Amino acid sequence: MKIKNVAILTSGGDAPGMNSAIFGAFTECQKNNIKLFGVQNGYDGLIDNLFIEINYQLLAGRINRGGTILKSGRSKRFLKSNYFKTALSNLKNNKIDALIIVGGDGSLKGAIKLRDNGVNVVCLPGTIDNDLNFTYTIGFDTATNNIVNAIDNITDSLYAFNYGAVIKIMGNQCADLVNAVADAIHSDLIIKNPDYDLNSLVKSIKSINDGNHLPPIVLVLENSANIEDLSKILQEKCKIQIRPHILGYIQRGGTPSAFDRRYGFTAGSTAVKAILNKQYGFAIGLDGNQLVSKEIENCFKF
Ligand code: F6P
Repeated sequence: MKIKNVAILTSGGDAPGMNSAIFGAFTECQKNNIKLFGVQNGYDGLIDNLFIEINYQLLAGRINRGGTILKSGRSKRFLKSNYFKTALSNLKNNKIDALIIVGGDGSLKGAIKLRDNGVNVVCLPGTIDNDLNFTYTIGFDTATNNIVNAIDNITDSLYAFNYGAVIKIMGNQCADLVNAVADAIHSDLIIKNPDYDLNSLVKSIKSINDGNHLPPIVLVLENSANIEDLSKILQEKCKIQIRPHILGYIQRGGTPSAFDRRYGFTAGSTAVKAILNKQYGFAIGLDGNQLVSKEIENCFKF
């Protein structure tokens, strides 16, 4: 079978570098005379038949931006068999020979379902969470830098007033982002699950709250603690101002780092090369500084 039409979708939380992956896939498709279709809104776009042909105009000015030009989604409908069947028939009716899926662990689970129903899928790990079994996922590096930059700004004021801060960090259930940020800002005040030891946290904060150390910054992996309540408790116990900070989408958006652009682009073009070699049903991502293929089932950390 000669490959004529490839499709690509981005699913789950948008990650900086997803657009680079689309560009990488497009560039390789162009070289090989293959049409690349973007599926909008993640898996929902398969159901709603939202296929658009990717061209330079669509990509121009956007490939170096965060987010995803294809938009994303967390499709509940895709899990239901009637909608899933519609997705399969839309792929068939659009004569799609292979589908590239860029996303995190939820997206890769969807890919397994498609693969098991005869769709030629190739997955690329795109999520700020780093919750897949690759050294890094596309977007993780940028998100780490975004968070470190935001905390550096906050730290200026903390330092000026000898305040402390409790900061909620994304990552879903994966602590890689919070750990990387903690290393980068030299803080060992980290809460990664609800069973944290409040007394030892208080003790650590008191020990560094002397105006000579970096301000106490407690990093909380989302869903591990209520940061408003925790800030109040710490403030009372430590007798300093400790304010809660929610960085929200500041973490996920913005210009992708050079690392994520290179990673995304190379992964995108490698996915198309894999398709040309009829290597489907895998995920491609970084192991150290090498791109490797893995069984999708072996990609999950949780
Ligand atoms: O998967 C990326 C992520 O930002 C997670 O870290 C977080 O739990 C979730 O998405 C937030 O999702 P939403 O886009 O619904 O706010």
